[in-house]
Amino acid sequence: MALVNMRSLLRAAEAGGYAVGSFSVANMECIRGIVQAAEELGSPIILQIAEIRLPYSPLRLIGPMMLAAARCASVPVAVHLDHGKTLPCLQEALDLGFTSVMCDGSELPIAQNVALTRQVVDMAKATGAAVEAEVGRVGRGEDGSESKEQIAPLDDCYRMDETGIDALAIGIGNAHGLYAATPKLHYEVLEELRGKLRAFPVLHGGTGLTDEQFRRLIALGMRKINIATDIFMAQASACQGKDIFKNIASSVDAVSATAKRYIKLFGSEGKA
Ligand code: 13P
Repeated sequence: MALVNMRSLLRAAEAGGYAVGSFSVANMECIRGIVQAAEELGSPIILQIAEIRLPYSPLRLIGPMMLAAARCASVPVAVHLDHGKTLPCLQEALDLGFTSVMCDGSELPIAQNVALTRQVVDMAKATGAAVEAEVGRVGRGEDGSESKEQIAPLDDCYRMDETGIDALAIGIGNAHGLYAATPKLHYEVLEELRGKLRAFPVLHGGTGLTDEQFRRLIALGMRKINIATDIFMAQASACQGKDIFKNIASSVDAVSATAKRYIKLFGSEGKA
């Protein structure tokens, strides 16, 4: 039984000065590869899926699989809804037993984002699940759709922090998907916020950042780092021939190798 609340993972990460990898999944191979990596390295992890991916992987099917994988794992695993945009979807994740949900109101004016987030914090009280919100905006949608990144104003970060959230995705020039060039990250936002937020800072758009950028972000208090594109690319390129079972096995291995690289980089190895 290793299904845990995301709050406890992030608290331990803060105490230990590392970040927990939050890896996006699309199917069983992704789930197995990520959990295998975490077990082999003795690391806590977060399994997540974004609402926009649910037409491909329905929550009522993949959700129970994510939870089952967490319960069977020998390391602590939190199960998280990434970029929850609608209340019915957020409620479904909570009802299934997800131990964390993200309420993404980043496209709304800040007052509405705050109001929506408060509503989700209230909803989550029934199950005790952790809640993540977003300020500023992570560039491009989780599925690569166009939208411009926005640097989070400090005042908006403090307003979101007062909603009772556990984690806060902060736009600092990061974007989902592949970067055309290494992005210029606004570390000064994190420097200003360090020690002043109750919520743990979260970084979206991890694929394509340099090792040095990750180290600096973690030193500045980043405690949850999301990786999606690299996991999906690893799986896609592992599927070479027409033998479905060989593809399943090579997918699990490729996803596991990719997740391991991040786990080591984030410093969570041996922290289970
Ligand atoms: P990448 O696809 O850039 O790794 O971003 C993942 C993410 O932030 C999911 O919310």
